[in-house]
Amino acid sequence: MPQLRSVVLGVGAYLPAKTLTNDELAKRVDTSDEWIVQRTGIKERHIAAEGETTSMLGEKAARDALANAGVSANDIDLIVVATSTPDWTFPSTATQIQAALGITQGVAFDLQAVCSGFVFAVATAEKFLRSGSHKRALVIGAETFSRIIDWNDRTTCVLFGDGAGAMILEARPSAGRLDERGVLTTHLRSDGRHRAKLHVDGGPSATQTVGHLRMEGKEVFRFAVGQVTDVVKDAFAATGLTPEDLDWFVPHQANRRIIDMSAQKLGIAPEKIIATVHLHGNTSAASVPLALAVASADGRIKQGDLVMLEAVGGGFTWGSALIRW
Ligand code: UT7
Repeated sequence: MPQLRSVVLGVGAYLPAKTLTNDELAKRVDTSDEWIVQRTGIKERHIAAEGETTSMLGEKAARDALANAGVSANDIDLIVVATSTPDWTFPSTATQIQAALGITQGVAFDLQAVCSGFVFAVATAEKFLRSGSHKRALVIGAETFSRIIDWNDRTTCVLFGDGAGAMILEARPSAGRLDERGVLTTHLRSDGRHRAKLHVDGGPSATQTVGHLRMEGKEVFRFAVGQVTDVVKDAFAATGLTPEDLDWFVPHQANRRIIDMSAQKLGIAPEKIIATVHLHGNTSAASVPLALAVASADGRIKQGDLVMLEAVGGGFTWGSALIRW
């Protein structure tokens, strides 16, 4: 059987119309534009309108990605949606998006790895495609974290935003060379001992409530910079490629300081970093595909480029995906 590889056909994004600036937040809680920019790099974030749900954001990002890829919804036979803020406890957000797109073939399911969700979803879809079981995947990261934020907690409410990003992957024959397009390698990790450091204090089984996000920011920061780089090193080790070979580093967009310190630790040049955290805040599973969509639309990421995705989230979960675009 010929070897298969998952090739990126296109990416897309959607952001809710309403933006919330740091100055506006400073009217609600004891904070300032200066503190938020200095500690995180965030200048503004988008907030979903009343009644605008995660599946609605995801559907719009999906349509953008389908158009960008030149693919019709009928060509998709696998939908994986990464989200921690589903419309409903069930059915999955993926099946809601499947229906909204008019897709009745194939399979759709959600995947939950918080901020690492999109990288986990790419890794999952890629394994389906490489096995030959499915041909074309729609991978989405979509979130409405504004719905689980405690808007009176200044240590968290300034950090997050809403949005969605999407990617179309197609299984194509490959000779297995590193200069051929497609996902080259993925590396996922998790360690459940860290629950308390980043969690939501509600859920259907534990409390029968939705709950609010709680975070020990300093601990998460330390873990993100100290530990997460191992999965990027794993991707280099698995392929024999090096930081010099990379064209773009697209990490989870939580904090500009984490992004810069991680890149520095890995020996990745600052000009190779794609950062959108100043515009979107932390959109959890949507952050990496949103950054990819921005950098693809503005012409930075081009066909043939070597792109490293990396993310870390609650759990903890963390992962990398190395892609020849
Ligand atoms: O997606 C993965 C999850 N999230 C992350 O990756 C976030 C990881 N953590 C972080 O990004 C940073 O830890 C934060 C941005 C959350 C905080 O930055 P920090 O430099 O670690 O600040 P800190 O928590 O040490 O707080 C410093 C001070 C404290 O005051 P005192 O105790 O020094 O008087 C805080 O109470 O800043 C205070 N503070 C604020 N001040 C103004 C905390 N939040 C705010 C705020 N505005 N919004």
